[in-house]
Order: sequence, then structure tokens, then C-alpha cells
Amino acid sequence: MTSNSTPKISRRALEMPQNAIRHLVPLAEAAERRGVHVHRLNIGQPDIVTPPELSAPLESSLPSVFAYGHSAGDLSLRRALRNDLARVGAQVHEDDILVTHGASEALTFALTALCDAGDEVLTPDPTYANYLGFSASLGVGLRPIPTFAEDRWALPSTLGDRVNSKTRAILLSNPGNPTGAFYSREVLSGLLQAARRHDLWLIVDEVYRGLVFGEHPAYSALSLDDPEHRVIVVESTSKRYSTCGLRIGALVTRNAAIREATMSFAQARLSCSVLSQQMVAQIDTLDEDAREAITNTYRERLALTHELLATIPGVYAPPAEGAFYQMATLPVRDASRFVRFLVEEFSCDGETVLVAPAAGFYLDPTRGIDQIRIACVLGLDSLRAALRCLAAGLRAYLAAHPDQGVGAPPPRAT
Ligand SMILES: Cc1ncc(COP(=O)(O)O)c(C=O)c1O
Repeated sequence: MTSNSTPKISRRALEMPQNAIRHLVPLAEAAERRGVHVHRLNIGQPDIVTPPELSAPLESSLPSVFAYGHSAGDLSLRRALRNDLARVGAQVHEDDILVTHGASEALTFALTALCDAGDEVLTPDPTYANYLGFSASLGVGLRPIPTFAEDRWALPSTLGDRVNSKTRAILLSNPGNPTGAFYSREVLSGLLQAARRHDLWLIVDEVYRGLVFGEHPAYSALSLDDPEHRVIVVESTSKRYSTCGLRIGALVTRNAAIREATMSFAQARLSCSVLSQQMVAQIDTLDEDAREAITNTYRERLALTHELLATIPGVYAPPAEGAFYQMATLPVRDASRFVRFLVEEFSCDGETVLVAPAAGFYLDPTRGIDQIRIACVLGLDSLRAALRCLAAGLRAYLAAHPDQGVGAPPPRAT
């Protein structure tokens, strides 16, 4: 008998959350079709030119057969990544490094290796939105550790009753997306101690490693005192070296059992792009000035963004200390509605701005509703124009929808 319907799809597929940021892109595209220039500060796609040194392999003769690479990654790239870690005081062997398709694949490898369906992972709330997707696709629960802008996103001193028999790991990004928080070596050592007390793994996502702007120097969690090797670092060159589309990241661990398990996953997907690996291996040829220039670029952008946000009445935005994101609490009831207004109904001299409503980064559905995240991925002039649109847009929104404002002083006239 022939069935007229298709077989059902999995519960995991149905429960997979939508990416909370990308769904606004069609609205920005529609605004652009109307002739409005949209300053896109919604996703962490750096505009910084990929270092030209990385193109060197493209200029030499390419192989006649692009064969599969080694499942663990090319040795030259693993050595370059090892040297990159050594620059921030973490000594690892190249065999501790498994090259992956971006940090995204490293994260799924880590979660798959550590957790069975039904297990739980603790993560600061707000958190990187795709952790929700990665964990949902594996049937793993994410349990929030609430953090607050007013406390500069500080972590609580104990994990308390958040740990239960199903808890396997703590997962956080440091420097952090979306918060821009940077947890110092002392803070992360404390978290590692808590992980030891509760016998948990500690997964540290260091995609933004090196992009730190405050008093604390950059470091890797792999340089912490970790006798049982419970730290697993996932990293990537996507952000630091502006190589998002090359899709190169890594999982780094000194733990033999995790290395073996994740290597089996890597063998099952055969290899990463050999050409991307050759290109990214060239990061080893960059001089310190090139690295510093990238950090300084983001430092200036965040400083400007913070300064301009401070001039907008009713906005609360403590300065970011790392990565390239600035969170801001707005004097509105629903920042999502305001963001839609900016791209659907508003323009200022033919321009507007797209930012990320922050609710999509929170596990707790009651939090972040009045917040946005600004990705400082455009140059200073564009940021100035974008922040001008944000301020003017906020005035226009509150004037058009006075019931949507909260606790704000009356909008300032210009
Ligand atoms: C905290 C964090 N982890 C991982 C990723 C994904 O990185 P990749 O491009 O290397 O997959 C991102 C991208 O925005 C991120 O912000």
C-alpha cells in the first residue's frame, strides 16, 4: 500500500531552535530594496580584511588532485595553532589539537563526546545562541547560570544547586559572546575548581581569544592548573583572523580519552578542507604588529560604541572587556519590536541600523527582552552613522509608540 504522507521527522528536528538573529536578515534585505542603507551590526561577521599572507597557498601551484587531508588536520596547521596558543602561555603538543570545521564542529564534537541525550550542561545566561541549537540537536539540556549587566556579567561564586546527577560540563565563551565579558585567569581558575568539586568537564570557547581590552591580559584556559585535564578548549580563526568562510577551528585537549573519542568523530567526517587548512596555517607567518592591529581596531570600535551609547537617554551599557560585542539595555518594553521598527519603518537620511535583539541569547525566556547586542564589525565612520540611526530611531519609536517606553526620561530633542 502506498502512503500519501511522508514519514515523520525526528522530535529533535522539530525542537531545533531557529537561529535568533538571522531571521531579521530578510527585513534588512527588504529595506535595502527600498533604497535604505542598512548598517548591519547584527552578526559577528568581521569586516576586517583577511591577512593577505593567508592567500600564499593560492599563489603557488595547486595539486592536480585535491585528496582528503588527515582527519586530525594538517600538521603545519596544528603547529601554527600550537604556536598561537603558546603566545598566550599555553603549552600544548600538536597532537592535542584536532582541526575542525570551525569552532562550531569542535563544539558538537565536545558535546557529543561528553554527553548522552538527557544529560545537562551549565552555561552562563545569556550565552552564545548556537549553543542552544548544538545541544538541542543532541538532546542535551542547557541549564543557565544567570549573569547580569549590572554586575558586569560576573559569575556566581558557587554552582549551588544547579548541579545535579545529569550535569556533565560547564560551557562558556571567554571572551564572551554576546556579553563582551572577559573572565580573568583567577575567575576561570575558580570555575575550574568548582568543576573539580562537582566532577564536571570545563569547555571553554576561545573563538575571541586575544581580543581583550581591559587590565587583564589574554590567556587560554589551557594554561590553568588542570591536573586531571578536564579543560577542553574550542577555538577558531574565524574572528581573530577574519577567516569565517574558511571554516577552520579546533578542539584542543590534553585528555587522552576525549582525544580518542573526538578523533573517531573526525574520522567519520573524513577531513576538513585541505585548501582552507593550508591558508590558515599561514597565521604563523604574521608578525605581532598584525595581531595587535586587529585587537586595537576592535578596542577603538568598542570604546566609540560605548561612548556614543552613553549619550542616548535611558540606555544602560557597561563597557565590554573583550570580543567585539556591546550589550545595551534600552528604555523600551520589547527590543525585538524596536529592532523590527528600525528596519521596517524607520530611516534617517536614507540609512538605518540592524542589531540583534538580545532575548535570543537568553535561556531564561523572561530575561533580555529590553536588551540588544551590537556587533562592532564595521569601521568607526559606519559605527558613528549606525549609532546616530539607533538614537534617532529610538526617539522616533518612543514618539510613535509611547506605550512601548519604560522608565525612560523623555526623549531628547535634537
Ligand atoms: C562564541 C562563539 N563560538 C563559536 C562560534 C562559531 O565559530 P566558527 O565560525 O569557528 O564556527 C561563534 C560565532 O559567532 C561564536 O561567537
